[in-house]
Amino acid sequence: ATGMLLDRLGRPLTDLRISVTDRCNFRCSYCMPKDVFDKDYKYLPHSALLSFEEITRLARLFASHGVRKLRLTGGEPLLRKNIEGLIEQLAAIRTPTGEPLALTLTTNGSLLARKAAQLHAAGLQRVTVSLDSLDDAVFRQMNDVDFPVADVLAGIDAALAAGLGPVKVNMVVKRGTNEQEILPMARYFRTHHGGKVILRFIEYMDVGATNGWRMDEVLPSADVITRIHSEFPLVPMGATTPGETARRWAYADGSGEIGVISSVTQAFCHDCSRARLSTEGKLYLCLFASAGHDLRPLLRGSASDEDIASAIGHIWQGRADRYSELRALHGPEGDGGAHDKAPRRVEMSYIGG
Ligand code: GTP
Ligand code: 5AD
Ligand code: SF4
Ligand code: SF4
Repeated sequence: ATGMLLDRLGRPLTDLRISVTDRCNFRCSYCMPKDVFDKDYKYLPHSALLSFEEITRLARLFASHGVRKLRLTGGEPLLRKNIEGLIEQLAAIRTPTGEPLALTLTTNGSLLARKAAQLHAAGLQRVTVSLDSLDDAVFRQMNDVDFPVADVLAGIDAALAAGLGPVKVNMVVKRGTNEQEILPMARYFRTHHGGKVILRFIEYMDVGATNGWRMDEVLPSADVITRIHSEFPLVPMGATTPGETARRWAYADGSGEIGVISSVTQAFCHDCSRARLSTEGKLYLCLFASAGHDLRPLLRGSASDEDIASAIGHIWQGRADRYSELRALHGPEGDGGAHDKAPRRVEMSYIGG
């Protein structure tokens, strides 16, 4: 175990987000647009993926450096075969002081009704479910595979019933596409499930290089709050954990809380404590990075745990990433267009959210 590991901006490493597959059964236009992620798209071959043992070994070494929370992402993490097996191994990890890690997963909910009980039994503590609309036509169009709202709602119910609550629901807000769903979503989730669902509104981000992001499709979180506040008065809550992505707001009538994740209009890089591990073992220091640090050769070579832990420590100590803050100062960069000199940013489906 080491002392407190800090990056070049003084930020500790407390969260590890692990992508377990680059595949997904949805084609959300803001993430995996169909014209790019078509039948010819080259996904990672099986041999490139880290095994569950390799992932667990790395997670254990990250825990020795101060990581206290693991989040499994994708693509769609529930598409990874026997994901429960990985969860069991990760649940056995202990911090240097003997505590288990917080173990969570972000999913599109499509397979959750089927898998919630097994996931909880394997040691998963909570899930975050993405849902962009309660209106079936809007949702089917946004996921672009004609997937119905009802099945995601059934997944949320199953997660709560299995003990995976409180469940967070993520809604990516695109101006002109689903902004009319903000109030229906707020109305629905504040009364259903007795305060066990926390709805979060995410600003549409310029992540990756394929989603054709435009600033005029971003609805600032301040507008989201104004709209909800006009029907249901809100009061700001303090942050509970440093480095949190969401600003939290409570309904004044005591019926629970919501959150806004405002990477575009209110960057939260100053205390960003998240590292991201890709499906093939590359360590990314920012969601908007164009390259990662390949840990797989260390795993598959003769490096000892100490060697790998030390490599992770050095990589984190060299970190100065703060893309969202720089975007706020200079505008978005590196969209991968023909005239763009900046290297292409990694895709969200590859690195997870
Ligand atoms: P909790 O810690 O449980 O609140 O979850 P979370 O907010 O860390 O995770 P989640 O996977 O639900 O992420 C919510 C949204 O925030 C997703 O759209 C993520 O891509 C986005 N997000 C998460 N971490 C970062 C980050 O470090 N930077 C940026 N710009 N966005 C992030
Ligand atoms: N902007 C904002 N959020 C996004 N997500 C995926 N792509 C984007 C984007 N371009 C969200 C998903 C999921 C979370 C992990 O990231 O909807 O809730
Ligand atoms: Fe799949 Fe999630 Fe990306 Fe949608 S946002 S395509 S559900 S990984
Ligand atoms: Fe962290 Fe990069 Fe997101 Fe900023 S943009 S909060 S540094 S992941």
